[in-house]
Amino acid sequence: MTDAIWDKLQGLAKPTLVELFEADPDRLARFATRFELGAEDALGEMRFDWSKTHLDAAHVAAFEELAAAMDFDARRKALFDGDIVNPTEGRAAEHTAQRGVGKEESVQLAAEYHHKTAAIVEAILRGAMGEVKHLIHVGIGGSALGPALAVDALAGEGALVDVHVVSNIDGVALERAFKACDPKTTMLAIASKTFTTIETMTNAESVMTWFRENEVEDPYGRVVALTAAPEKAMEWGVDETRILPFSESVGGRYSLWSSIGFPVAMALGWPDFAEFLAGAAAMDEHFRDADGIDNLPLRAAFADQYYTRLRGCQTRAVFAYDQRLALLPDYLQQLEMESNGKSVKVDGSQVDGATAPITWGGVGTDAQHAVFQLLHQGTNLVPVDFIACIAPGDDLDEAHHRILLSNCFAQGAALMAGKASEDPARAYPGNRPSATILLDDLTPAAFGALIAFHEHRTFANAVLMGINPFDQFGVELGKAIAKQIEAGGTTFDPSTEALLALAGIG
Ligand code: F6P
Repeated sequence: MTDAIWDKLQGLAKPTLVELFEADPDRLARFATRFELGAEDALGEMRFDWSKTHLDAAHVAAFEELAAAMDFDARRKALFDGDIVNPTEGRAAEHTAQRGVGKEESVQLAAEYHHKTAAIVEAILRGAMGEVKHLIHVGIGGSALGPALAVDALAGEGALVDVHVVSNIDGVALERAFKACDPKTTMLAIASKTFTTIETMTNAESVMTWFRENEVEDPYGRVVALTAAPEKAMEWGVDETRILPFSESVGGRYSLWSSIGFPVAMALGWPDFAEFLAGAAAMDEHFRDADGIDNLPLRAAFADQYYTRLRGCQTRAVFAYDQRLALLPDYLQQLEMESNGKSVKVDGSQVDGATAPITWGGVGTDAQHAVFQLLHQGTNLVPVDFIACIAPGDDLDEAHHRILLSNCFAQGAALMAGKASEDPARAYPGNRPSATILLDDLTPAAFGALIAFHEHRTFANAVLMGINPFDQFGVELGKAIAKQIEAGGTTFDPSTEALLALAGIG
């Protein structure tokens, strides 16, 4: 059934982007959509422009047929109903419930957990735990990338508390945080869904040693745990009153909305964190209720499938023309590649085409002077997303922001139009796709919607491919071998043995 749809998609004409605009005067209206962040005007709007992609009416019709054949409506309903959508681990995926959208009991439980987090955040910011100037947040993967991005994007220099997200086991990372913090006014947040991850637990122990070495009174009194395994946090020594739990059904890379967002709330204050959740909820409701091509994450997934499956694109690039979003590509790498970098379908059968492309990117305009050569003239076709804000994030002369946005829009135009030249080295082939997400302003609500959009886009892609985006068994083998190395007594291949011998390990 779906083979026939893919065959049909393969057989469709492939007009150029310029031809698509010429053939359809309504193209912009059809593929560029304003999205309201909520009933309150103050939350603003965002524009999602997918018109410079190769989607046309025929492709849209076929992709809508594919979505129906893949039971998109039922799988989306299962997601929001809190059903088991992660069958290999027997779990629901209830990140939307953290934002107030989903199964009633889960929404209620998330609200109770948020209540506890809000109370602790407000107490600390009020000074109830003594002076707190710095927060060292140790976590890795989903327990670090979201917090680091959100703090950088929304708080920046204006953060209420100086937050240092430390993920790497490489002690250099933690030492840098120590140098920037005064132990007497530092708190430690241990962020780990499982409370077993070696990097996080080792870093947490080292922070405790640092507290003790610096004669911090009651070091355990400076610790907050953010986890779905509260009993493990208690065993570790964290006081129950400072364990901020979240549900097992919230996946690690979808956990920014749970207590894992604690450092974000500390940096912004709870009201802004609540606005961040509200922006995501607006996107949840849209994704839950809108149909077919009108559904923005699904529309983006149609384009993603088009490029990956029909045009053989192995990568997808994201360029934020906004310094505050510099960490966005890192965040999206985990979200998209850990979710959809799979080779088997939900039913265990092998996939019959490419799955997640490699997500990469950077910030504009820096990237223009580094990697854009390949985008314009290289042999790889790379679909690009541009993300920018109409309102500047700086108070400098408005020339900065005008030049920034002009460059952003110029790149999309250049990729599409190309430029002929008699000199082949100076010719631009054009017909290269891009999409643009333009925020009125980088408010907590807009940022929440932006991240939720990408979560749902990732889910929609998974549904169209028939894969489970919520497990990540691919990360386990390397961890297990690292443990064997630590334990000693196992013989590995000659190359690995030689490396171990050189480093004096094992
Ligand atoms: O190893 C991958 C992973 O399990 C990610 O999915 C997760 O975000 C990260 O490790 C950290 O896990 P935890 O929050 O349990 O420490």
